[in-house]
Amino acid sequence: MGNPPWPGTPVIVGGRKDTEVRAGTKSVLFGAHSWWLHPFFVSAAWCRLYGFPWDVRVWAAFAVHDLGYWGRNDMDGPHGEAHVLLGGRIMGFLFGEFWQSFTVRHSRYWAKRMGLPVSRLCAADKLAFVLMPAWLYLPMARATGELSEYMQKSAERQAGGERFTAEESAMISSSDSRVWLQGLQSYTRRWVDRHRDGGEDNWTVAEQRDVVALGE
Ligand SMILES: [Fe+2]
Ligand SMILES: [Fe+2]
Repeated sequence: MGNPPWPGTPVIVGGRKDTEVRAGTKSVLFGAHSWWLHPFFVSAAWCRLYGFPWDVRVWAAFAVHDLGYWGRNDMDGPHGEAHVLLGGRIMGFLFGEFWQSFTVRHSRYWAKRMGLPVSRLCAADKLAFVLMPAWLYLPMARATGELSEYMQKSAERQAGGERFTAEESAMISSSDSRVWLQGLQSYTRRWVDRHRDGGEDNWTVAEQRDVVALGE
């Protein structure tokens, strides 16, 4: 028998304190999707792929496309995948429907689910992941708890039939995070090379599940 909680004691909901900072929020603050760093890598990746973007709306998309991770319980699960919606709404409000779609389709999984092609922002976003050095990426992703989710998710993606080479498969199965990162960056680089100019994405396997859109 426990004592009645003191006033101000955090309420336990579903086994999790409601004061706990969510995975997505941590990612936006200081993780793999940090608002102060990730857009710079996306812009560097865009410059490599398509040249310097003179359109300010592209820069706005760099800045806002992942802000929707804020408040999400997971990164690649049903909560996390709907992160594209907030950035899309911001871009739609500011610049109209085309830019909303452009931003939302930065996610391979979201585009696949909607039956639409990915936008150029997707290739730049994925190349941004490839460009991040391990010494920077790994401590940040580890600090937020994202790393363990991403490493576990890779095994599921492999089982789901994504087109990893034998060497990449072996690497992303490794429990060594550096080896895992090399393997996933190798795969992602090949994906970008293949899809940078559009075209159907036959590599990504989108799971059929309900996506949780916050605030809807
Ligand atoms: Fe994203
Ligand atoms: Fe991103």
